[in-house]
Amino acid sequence: MLNRRNFLTAAIGVAAAGTLAACAKEDGGTSGSSGGSKTITLGFSQVGSESGWRSANTDSVKSAAKEAGYNLKFSDAQQKQENQISAIRSYIAQKVDVIAFSPVVVTGWDAILNEAKAAKIPVVLTDRSVESDESLFVTLVGSDFTDEGRRAAKMLEKVLEKAGHKGPVKIAQLEGTTGAAPAIERAKGFKEVMDADHADDWKIVVSQTGDFTRAGGKQVMAAFLQSNPDIDVLFAHNDDMGIGAIQAIEAAGKKPGKDILIVTVDGVKDGFIAMSEGKINAIVECNPLLGPQLMEVVKKVHAGETVERWIKTEESDFMQDQAKDALPTRKY
Ligand code: AHR
Repeated sequence: MLNRRNFLTAAIGVAAAGTLAACAKEDGGTSGSSGGSKTITLGFSQVGSESGWRSANTDSVKSAAKEAGYNLKFSDAQQKQENQISAIRSYIAQKVDVIAFSPVVVTGWDAILNEAKAAKIPVVLTDRSVESDESLFVTLVGSDFTDEGRRAAKMLEKVLEKAGHKGPVKIAQLEGTTGAAPAIERAKGFKEVMDADHADDWKIVVSQTGDFTRAGGKQVMAAFLQSNPDIDVLFAHNDDMGIGAIQAIEAAGKKPGKDILIVTVDGVKDGFIAMSEGKINAIVECNPLLGPQLMEVVKKVHAGETVERWIKTEESDFMQDQAKDALPTRKY
């Protein structure tokens, strides 16, 4: 996965990518309509449609590709790595100019990325990172998930203060898809702050994956409440699992946002609606509108230009009292 330590390796990766891109440019593409330039063919493998965030991300990629005039080949992997590998292999066979994908999990990509490299097709990661040889992809366009975890812990400090909570804090964590970058890194960032500043008072009493889905969040939260009826806080790695958990909390006769304080990540409209109803206490934003940035990067990579190793997204944090004002202007 990318971290600050790896920026040196980045320079090498970018140089290699430039070479790949230049070769791809010569090999691929069909004549476009404007001024004799080539239409870029982009093969994009999406994780699935597990959450509101994902739907917004898919819409953003599709509309930005259209806007840029690219020939987009899109496939939905239904959260299965083998589907993503097949899609990427088919993009290689079709000799697309650039491949972009949002990897469902961090491991298991080296073989297919080496196939892309052998075919001289540059690969851009979007949204999520991988644990692979870093020369096998050009860049990552996406969020700093570790920092989102840290920000969630900082928001929880504010939420607890606002609620006047004193004494030990029993935390339930709903993790994202097992092995996915946002699940690993959000948990890591949250724990970092917890270990540094709250070793004596905060404790994660239960933590399990809800696979980033509403149904998963509901089912796992119901089980949490059975085994740990005295949970004070829920940290959900995304809004959808938080919303599912709210249903389980209400079904158990408790008040979400009051009896159990809730911090989530994403900032989708439904998350903001739940927050404006007082059911979520704080949201750490993770911006899914990556399409325009991705298309810009694809254009540069295809032209053999140098791009930054990690193109990060700008994001904000929101407390419950900001929800009503922010809701009408939410874009996703
Ligand atoms: O990779 C981004 C994460 O994936 C989002 O937080 C989550 O909602 C999605 O499914």
